[in-house]
Amino acid sequence: MAANSGQWNNNTAFLLAATGSAVGLGNIWGFPYKAGENGGGLFVLLYIFFVITLGLPVFMAEVFIGKKGKSNPVSSVETLAKASNSSKSWNIIGYGGILASLIIAGYYAVIAGFVINYGFISASGVDVGAAEAIYTAEKANFWEMTMWFSIFLFGSGFVVANGIDKGIDKAMRFLLPMLFVLVFAMVGYGAIAGDFAAGLSYLFSWKADDFSAGTIQAAIGQAFFSMSIGMGTLMAFGSYMPSDQKVSRASSVVVTADTGVALLAGLAIFPLALGLGFSPNAGDTLVFVTMTEVFAQLGSIGQFVGPLFYFLLAVAAFSSMISILEPSVAFLSQKFSMTRVKATSIIMAVCFGLSLVSVAGHNVWNDVAIGALDNTFEAMKYFADDFLLLLVGTGMSIFVGWRLQGALDNDILGIENKALMNLWVFILKWVSPIFLMLIWTLGNLQILFGIRFF
Ligand code: PHE
Repeated sequence: MAANSGQWNNNTAFLLAATGSAVGLGNIWGFPYKAGENGGGLFVLLYIFFVITLGLPVFMAEVFIGKKGKSNPVSSVETLAKASNSSKSWNIIGYGGILASLIIAGYYAVIAGFVINYGFISASGVDVGAAEAIYTAEKANFWEMTMWFSIFLFGSGFVVANGIDKGIDKAMRFLLPMLFVLVFAMVGYGAIAGDFAAGLSYLFSWKADDFSAGTIQAAIGQAFFSMSIGMGTLMAFGSYMPSDQKVSRASSVVVTADTGVALLAGLAIFPLALGLGFSPNAGDTLVFVTMTEVFAQLGSIGQFVGPLFYFLLAVAAFSSMISILEPSVAFLSQKFSMTRVKATSIIMAVCFGLSLVSVAGHNVWNDVAIGALDNTFEAMKYFADDFLLLLVGTGMSIFVGWRLQGALDNDILGIENKALMNLWVFILKWVSPIFLMLIWTLGNLQILFGIRFF
């Protein structure tokens, strides 16, 4: 029998936890490299556009389900489905979210492990021109990668096992201020040591030539991932919200902070990279190869700034990882009435296995393609980020827009303006399902079968 979940014991806990969740590798590792790959300014503008028009509405829908359902992602959806005379099968949204969160946990820990490793590498000093070779060597080392991700994974498991107040809230209170100080410090340093004007223009200038369907898809996928939508995290955190907190306002704060940090990460990385003569379009090795080369060029000061940069990434990743684990831990502990420690241990075992598969994709199974995808790491990333995430997002949008229409109580939502309320429901009912499914279909046809329409 599903039990009700606990509650945060204060009004800032949700804001801190959801911001800690949203701001992660997606912002500092993902956003700058995707902006770099997709021509800079146009990607950034599309990103912001989708955050406002689709991301925020679906974000609110997810938090709403959690806050009203007051339980883990699966039980919350079941409760609301029952109350609205809908089929219990809507709970597939909850299960889909949990599945996505476990797979993400599996590969996320591996990238975070890389980050920790790079903190030490940059501290020990890197010769100019050596970054590429270091990356190749590190990637090839199965056991070393396993060691780094294990430290990260079990560290975040420890926090989650301690519960939502003594574990998550307490950790976020410490991690988030640190994260913001580090981001601003990095932007400040980039402005002094790099070419700030070039970075700014790279981030915001309009390069229409680089526009393609892929740019739209990348911007939407990135927006949803970065806001932690579609993995049950926001439902779980929403369920712990105190009753007087309003979904609309809290969501807007978190989404604004998340977008702000993504832009700041761009402003930390681009001025430095461009200022020292590197192009920021290296793809997903931007923060590992390009930035390591940047720190090498900076000489001894690089041995100080480099570790600071990777520490920032590690802090951001850690607070997100905690939130990635929460939906499944909440589900297990509530559904099967087990202690959080036991539930966390089971989830740790599952994630450890998934992370091993993800590590192997970098080395021992590097050549083992999964269909059209290069290796197991890419396959996990694809299945969670590009396949499941938009599906669950669409499911939540339809569920709230169509099935819960009569139950959208404003005490929980706090949308005072009638026109805004109608707009929100309209987006959930029509705009986001149609648009997300269109993008989902086009994207998957392209990735899986190489079929391109425009
Ligand atoms: N939003 C996080 C990031 O940007 C990742 C994340 C996804 C966290 C899903 C929780 C749930 O890195």
